[in-house]
Amino acid sequence: MEKTPSHVAIIMDGNGRWAESHGWGRVRGHREGANRVDEIVTECRRIGVRYLSLYAFSTENWNRPAHEVSMLMRLLVQYLRRMDKKLHKNQISLVTQGTTHRLPVYVQNELKRVMKLTRFDEPRMFLNLCLSYGGRQEIVDAAKAIGASVKRGELDPEAVDEATFARHLYQPGFPDPDLLIRTGGESRVSNFLLWQIAYSEIYVTPVLWPDFHTADFGEALATFQSRERRFGLTSAQILNRLSLSGPVRLS
Ligand code: FPP
Repeated sequence: MEKTPSHVAIIMDGNGRWAESHGWGRVRGHREGANRVDEIVTECRRIGVRYLSLYAFSTENWNRPAHEVSMLMRLLVQYLRRMDKKLHKNQISLVTQGTTHRLPVYVQNELKRVMKLTRFDEPRMFLNLCLSYGGRQEIVDAAKAIGASVKRGELDPEAVDEATFARHLYQPGFPDPDLLIRTGGESRVSNFLLWQIAYSEIYVTPVLWPDFHTADFGEALATFQSRERRFGLTSAQILNRLSLSGPVRLS
C-alpha cells in the first residue's frame, strides 16, 4: 500500500453513545469496542503499520463511576487473555504507556505476563496501550526526570533540547504518530500524546468506535495518503526534497 503510516494513534471514543443509542448500558459499548480493537490491530499488522497506540484509559477516566472503571479493567484483562496467543503468533509486542502503577494489581500482572510473552528481538509491530495515560502528566514526568539528571550532574541544562526531552518520554524509542484518528466526532485531542502529535495528521470521524470497522480505517488511511505533510516547509521545498532524494520509500 502507498505511504502506509508507520505510527497510527487512535482516540477510541463513542462507546457510551453507541450503547445508549441501542438502549443498552455503557459497558456493552466498551465490550463491543474491545472487539474493534482486535479488528484494527489485525488490519494494522496486515498492512504494515509498525506502531499502533490506543487511548484505552486516560488519567481523567479514573473519575468515571466506580463500576464503569472496574468493568473497563476487567474487559482489558479479558482482552489480554483472549488475544495473547494471537499477538505472539503475529509477532506483535505489547507495550504500555502511562502511570500503570495506578492500575489494579491483577491488571498489572496480566499486562506484565503478556508483555513478557510478546517480547521479540525484532517485532513486526508494537501494540501500545495507553493506560492511565495523560499527555500533560507525561510531560511533567519527563521534566522531572530531566531535572533529576541535572541535579545529579549528568546533564547540562543548557544542553537540553527537543531530542533530550523526547528521550525522557514514556516510549522514547517510538517515532511520533503520522496519523491521529479520533472516532465519535469530537474535534479535540483530550490530553493524548500532546508532545508527540505536533506534526501528526489528524482525522476525525463521526463513526462511533464500536462501529469503526476495517473499511472505516481504510477511509482514514486514504485521507492520510491524500494529504501533503509539509512540516512547516512550502510545497515547492517538499517537491524539491523528494526529487533530490531519488526513489522515495513509501512505506
Ligand atoms: C471512550 O468512550 C472509550 C473509553 C473511555 C475506553 C476505551 C476502551 C475500549 C475500546 C475497550 C477496552 C479496551 C481494550 C484495549 C481492550 P466513551 O465511553 O467516552 O464514549 P462516549 O463519548 O460515547 O461516552
